[in-house]
Amino acid sequence: DKAPLLPRTVVLVGLMGAGKSAIGRRLATRLHLPFRDADTEIEAAAGCTIAEIFARDGEPVFRSVERRIITRLLTDEPVHILATGGGAFMDPDTRAAIRQHGISVWLRAELDVLVARTARRTHRPILNQGDPRAILGRLMEQRYPVYAEADLTVVSDERPPDVTVELVIDALEA
Ligand code: S3P
Repeated sequence: DKAPLLPRTVVLVGLMGAGKSAIGRRLATRLHLPFRDADTEIEAAAGCTIAEIFARDGEPVFRSVERRIITRLLTDEPVHILATGGGAFMDPDTRAAIRQHGISVWLRAELDVLVARTARRTHRPILNQGDPRAILGRLMEQRYPVYAEADLTVVSDERPPDVTVELVIDALEA
């Protein structure tokens, strides 16, 4: 199994439920690289959950913490696989850091897939503000044109995750 020597950290972007964490973890194992999850790093740095940051400080504060953590991971850590939260690539400064220091991969999924995958867990403050399908549909409209600016796009559907992982590796090697 050939482990391509990646020059830069691979940054997975896309909506909640696209599989960024699940695919990212498997991709890291497959490529023998470390895995980092930006949301987990944010919670560790803040000492509380993302839902608590949203409730206590509001989304703008969350976005600035997210920007700082992602920039640090990209500039201070050796090359790795980085899963980001769905809004990270939407922030202009965070997106600029990702473009400068990373290889961005958009995991693109259909609405039905996103709804099914996010229904399993309820820790996402943005989806607790109303009907998850309606919210995800609106976020698709707002965000897909921006996600499309990622360096690579890979469709993440209901295939087994390891199939999607191979598609990401194919895209990275192309
Ligand atoms: C968010 C997605 C979440 C998390 C936060 C905001 C978003 O990450 O960062 O709840 O704006 O789409 P996941 O995409 O990993 O669920």
